[in-house]
Parts: sequence; C-alpha cells; structure tokens
Amino acid sequence: MYEKLEEINEVVRNCTKCNLCKNRTNTVLGSGNENAKVMFIGEGPGADEDKIGEPFVGKAGKLMNQAFLGIGISREEVYISNIVKCRPPNNRTPLKEEAEACLDYLRNQVMIIKPKIIVLLGNTALKNILGEEYGITASRGKWIEKKGIKYLPTFHPAALLRDESKKIDFWNDLKLVKKELENY
Ligand code: URA
Repeated sequence: MYEKLEEINEVVRNCTKCNLCKNRTNTVLGSGNENAKVMFIGEGPGADEDKIGEPFVGKAGKLMNQAFLGIGISREEVYISNIVKCRPPNNRTPLKEEAEACLDYLRNQVMIIKPKIIVLLGNTALKNILGEEYGITASRGKWIEKKGIKYLPTFHPAALLRDESKKIDFWNDLKLVKKELENY
C-alpha cells in the first residue's frame, strides 16, 4: 500500500496486471480533492477519458457536472474515480478478473482519501464494492453503512443519457449526499 496518490498513479501508469493495458492511451487514476469527504466511483474510462487521462470528462461527466452545479456540489470538493483505470474495449463492462486486478488501487485510494461517503455509480461499482448480491434498481437511494463509510448507490450518469426518466432519481440521490455532507 502507498501513502500518496501520486505513488499509486506512477504504478498504475506502468500496470500490466490485466489485458486492458494493451489498448490504453492513458490510465485514469482519478481526480479531485485528496481530502474529499465524498468520493464518487464509476465503472471505467471511456474514449474521452482514455484520451485525456481524467475521469468523467465525456458526455456522462458533463451530465454529472450539471447535476453537481444544480445541487451545489463542486467537482473541486469531491474525488472521482473508477473500478478500472484503463478503458475496456468498446466501453464494455469490465470483466471480473479486470476489476479484481484493479481493485487494490481503489482500496488504496480510499485509504488515503478517507471519505465519509462513497457514491457508487451504477451496477459495476455497486457489485464490485459491496457484493454481487446487490442490484442498482433495488439499492439506489438507500444508504448502506460499512466499516464507518456511508455508501450510496445511484444510477450511472450514462444510464441517464439512455433513459431521461432516471434523472429525477439521480438528482434526488445527489440531494441526499448534499444533505448528509452537512453532518461532517
Ligand atoms: N464512465 C465511467 O464509468 N467512468 C468515467 O470516467 C467515464 C465514463
């Protein structure tokens, strides 16, 4: 385990633990505030993120920014990362072995940042962090506390691009986060 995010970033940049390393342009460790009280975890980089090396900079990220703005959360106060740090081909869901190969990096990031709240964006984040028995439809909007961290599963922003009716739930979930943040 490393003590600084920059050290993890250096290791991730050279990581060859799974096949996703073969097609990447850039690794995407995460971005934001290293002392954030809230951390958002997505699935994995898409084409834009792979090109730039930052999480959630494409369409889904822009939608997330709009929601943050509307609710009064700033991207500078949060930390955003993903289950896998390299883009899966054609943006497919990361395979179990790819997620498992990458998860120690995320655990190390959580250890350093020490967030009070972790927002799990979509099924991939939810299942890899809390377990296969969870599903986003049943779990979204409900707090789950484990080892002193409050987890809130919600829809992945890309799901809102496919189905606008999910936007209200997503906004309401972010409002829960904003409210909970008042306690810290
Ligand atoms: N989708 C994700 O899950 N993560 C990103 O960084 C971008 C899109």
